[in-house]
Amino acid sequence: MSERWIPLDVADCDPDPFAQFHAWFRDASDVMREREAIALVTASSDAKPSARMVLLRHVDAISFGWYSNYESRKGVELAENPHAALLWYCEPLGRQIRIEGVVEHMSAEESDEYFASRPRGHQLGAHASHQSEVLESRQSLETAMHDEELRYEGRDVPRPSYWGGFRLTPNFFEFWQHRQDRLHDRVFYRLHAGSWVLERHAP
Ligand SMILES: Cc1cc2nc3c(=O)[nH]c(=O)nc-3n(C[C@H](O)[C@H](O)[C@H](O)COP(=O)(O)O)c2cc1C
Repeated sequence: MSERWIPLDVADCDPDPFAQFHAWFRDASDVMREREAIALVTASSDAKPSARMVLLRHVDAISFGWYSNYESRKGVELAENPHAALLWYCEPLGRQIRIEGVVEHMSAEESDEYFASRPRGHQLGAHASHQSEVLESRQSLETAMHDEELRYEGRDVPRPSYWGGFRLTPNFFEFWQHRQDRLHDRVFYRLHAGSWVLERHAP
C-alpha cells in the first residue's frame, strides 16, 4: 500500500520560505477549522519560556503578525527579550511548521486600523480586560465590561494604548512532514547573509 502522506523534498520546496508557508497554509484551508491558531513561545530576560495560542492575522513577504495586549505576560516578555518562536500544526495533513525570529510592535496606524475593524464587543473587551492580571472574580470582569459600555455609549471605541499588533520577522523555518515508519521529512531554512539556505535534517 502506498503511503498517504505527501513527501517533502528540498528540491520541491520553494526557495522562499514565505511562499512555502503560503502553500501549506492554503492546503490547510480545506481540512482545518481554525488554521490561523498558532502557538507563540516567548521567554523572559531570565530565560524562562512560556507558550500560548494566538490568531495569525497577517502574513506579508517578510513577517507574521498577531494582536494582543502589550502589558500581558507575552507583551512584557517580548519587551524584555524580542526573540520568539511560532509553532503551527495541521493534523489532517501531518504537517508542522516552526518559525523563529525577532518581534517588534506594529505601528500605531496599523494597530488602529485593525482595532477599528473589530466587532464593538471585542473593542470594549480590550478596555475592560487587563490581560494576564489577577482578577477577583468573573463578576468584576463583567462589571468592568458594563462600565466600558456606558463610557463609550453612542461613540466610537478608541484603541487602548496598551493594545496592538506584534510582528515577527523570521530568521529560521522548519517544515516537517509526517511520513511512514517515523521517517519524517524535515526541511530547514536558515537566513545566511540575507539569503535562505535550505537543508534536510534527520527526523
Ligand atoms: C485558539 C486561540 C487563539 C487565541 N488568540 C489570541 C490572540 O490573537 N491574541 C491574544 O492576546 N490572545 C489570544 N488567545 C489567548 C491566549 O492564548 C492567552 O490566554 C492570552 O493572550 C494571555 O496570554 P499571556 O498571559 O501569556 O500573555 C487565544 C487563545 C486560543 C486558544
